[in-house]
This record gives sequence, C-alpha cells and structure tokens, in this order.
Amino acid sequence: MQHSPFAHIEQAPPDPIIGLTEAFNNDTNPAKVNLGVGVYQDANGKVPILNVVKEAQKRWQEQEATKTYFGIDGVPAYIKEVQKLLLGEESQVLAEGRAVTVQGLGGTGSLKVGADFLKRFFPEAQVWISKPSWENHKMLFEAAGFKVNSYPYYDPETHGLDFNGMLETLKTLPAGSIVVLHACCHNPTGVDLNNDQWLLVLDVVKQGKLIPFLDFAYQGFGDSLDADAFAVRTFAEAGIPCLIANSFSKSFALYRERVGALTILTTSAEESKRVLSQVKRVIRTNYSSPASHGAQLVALVLADKELRQQWEAELTEMRERIQQMRGKFVEMLREKGVEQDFSFIQAQRGMFSYSGLSPDAVKTLREKNSLYIVGSGRICLAAMNDNNIGGICAAIAEVV
Ligand code: LMR
Repeated sequence: MQHSPFAHIEQAPPDPIIGLTEAFNNDTNPAKVNLGVGVYQDANGKVPILNVVKEAQKRWQEQEATKTYFGIDGVPAYIKEVQKLLLGEESQVLAEGRAVTVQGLGGTGSLKVGADFLKRFFPEAQVWISKPSWENHKMLFEAAGFKVNSYPYYDPETHGLDFNGMLETLKTLPAGSIVVLHACCHNPTGVDLNNDQWLLVLDVVKQGKLIPFLDFAYQGFGDSLDADAFAVRTFAEAGIPCLIANSFSKSFALYRERVGALTILTTSAEESKRVLSQVKRVIRTNYSSPASHGAQLVALVLADKELRQQWEAELTEMRERIQQMRGKFVEMLREKGVEQDFSFIQAQRGMFSYSGLSPDAVKTLREKNSLYIVGSGRICLAAMNDNNIGGICAAIAEVV
C-alpha cells in the first residue's frame, strides 16, 4: 500500500453532545433515554413534526414554482419575518434599516458566520463566553481563530447566577472584546438574568465598548416569544451594535432542516449595507447560499395569521410540558428517597437542567442504566415523560 498522507491524523474525541446521541443510537437497551441533546420529545417520547409544519409543507408544495438559486443571504420573506420576530413588529431599528439579517444553517451555522465575519474585521479581539457555556461555543470560536476566555456565570453553591462575578469581569474587558451572551434559556444551566440584570450588563457593554454576540436558540421556551426577546430588544432599542444568532431548530422542531439566522445591528442604514456585503462574502466563500425548504416553511407560518396562531399554541404546549416535567422530576426524586434538595430545577428555564450530577454519576448512569447525560451533568428535561421519569429518578437516586 502506498504511504498515506493521512497517516499522522489522530482520532478526534466524540462531540460532547452529538457524540452522545451516536452512542445512544447504538445502545440496544430498550429502556434507554437520551437526556443529552437539546431535542424536544412529546409525552410519548417521540420527536414530533409540528402540525403547523405539516400544514405549511402542504401549502408550500402547491406554491413552489422553481428551485433556482436564492440570494447568498437566503429567503427574502424569511429574513423579513425573522427580523420582526426578534425585534418586534414596531421596531425602530427595523424602520431605520439598522438590522442586517442573513439566513443561517441553524443556530450553530449562524454563530459561525458571525464568528468568521468578526475574525475578518477584529482579528486581535478575544472572545468571552460564560462559565459554563454550550459545549460548542469554545470550539466554534476557536475554529474561527479566536482565543476564547470565560467570565463567571453559574454559582454551584446557590445553583443560581454569579451576577457580581459576571459583571465585575465584564467591566475589566478591553474595548472591542466579543462577549457571547445567552439571550434566554441559558445552555447548559437554565439560569437566566432577570430584566434588571440585563440592563446592568447593557450598561457595562456600552461603557466598555464591548461587542455582544447574543445566542438566541430558545426563543419561546422561557416565558413567551416576546418576554424571551427582552435582552435582544433592549440592546436593539439602546442602539448597541451587536450580533444575534437565532434558531428555529427547537421552536419549530426543524432540527435537521437547519434553519437559523444571523442578525447584526448597526448604527445606520448605510453601515448596514456595507456590513451585509461583507457577511455575504463570508457565506459565498463557505457554502454559497443556504438551503431554502425549512426557511420557506418558517416564513409561511410567521406571515400567516392562522398558521402563526397554531404555531404559538404548539410552542406553548412544548414549553408547558417541559415546565410540568421540572415539577414532576423534583417530586419524583424526593419520592425515590433522594434527600438532596433539587428544587432549584424548578426555577431554571428552557430545555435543560444543570443537575449537579458528578462526572462519575453520569458515567454510571450511562453504563448501568442507559441514561445518556452530558458530561457536565446537563439533563434535557424535554426528553422526560410519565413513562420514563420513574426509572430515571430511581436510577439517579442510586448515584447521589
Ligand atoms: C444542544 O445543546 O444539545 C443543542 O443545541 C444541540 C447541539 O447542537 O448541541
């Protein structure tokens, strides 16, 4: 055999989240539960296609007349609807042309386009993410060429926010530092800033001339579509130039369709034009233009009054079911004899709970019970239901 140019390439470690799903899929235990990846499962343990999505697919199939290319920035109707959903129908920023939006490949792809854009124009800047943060943030910004640091966020003692630590660190950052903030439903902790705290962060960002990059993958999973947009809209109204990556993977359950967007808030319509031209270069040299199908469905739903109502109802149902599971989880752990207080789980928002389970406990639960949990102890509550919660809690009771 000829010498291989790939001979020196080492095996990469499995992805901390998606790698877990791969292992889960290979597990033959019928009682297995994937509490790892942030995917919503219904009360029967199925990842549903929303009814509103099925309806939109039917309508779109009838309407679609061509498969020719769209622009580099994506589906125009989608871009318009995304901007309104993020910033509000009456947004002054939109009226003044101070928002640039491009369709992205889910939240991750949108973050990466933003990161590549930033690297091109702020090559010396460093990135700051929360401690802890979504597993992929560090890898993604490093892949874009940045040095990635962290600011305090979670306090394991209180299971809450270390807000002082966060704010004091943000105050020390050099101007032009890129600060990644979770706009709502913090991943992995489920611990969010309240509105007053957001205002204080905004002040520090403004004084310090920092560049905020808001990761907004869970709009609608905290309190409501509008309430969850508080941080995004407050930054926008205050005229803070920033980046926002949003996703419809969760809120439309369109995971594999990869539907998201990158929005950049600028200081003028003229600046928006220049910024857009450069973001388009980033896209063109990477994947040319995004796929249209998922974005077309989202655009259709958001623009149609009846479909929009149906979507909001289905989203509310998902949010409320997760909230119910939080309560049941805490209660059931107690019933199974766990003395440790887990009531903090009820105050957390979104799909996840930062359970505090140790890496050893996580390992045992996987090996012994086929319960797949992220190494950090993050549990996806959206994978629990009345049929599996008893078994999950009994297994956890044995390791805490
Ligand atoms: C998660 O955090 O589980 C999701 O955002 C899925 C992913 O891409 O990691």
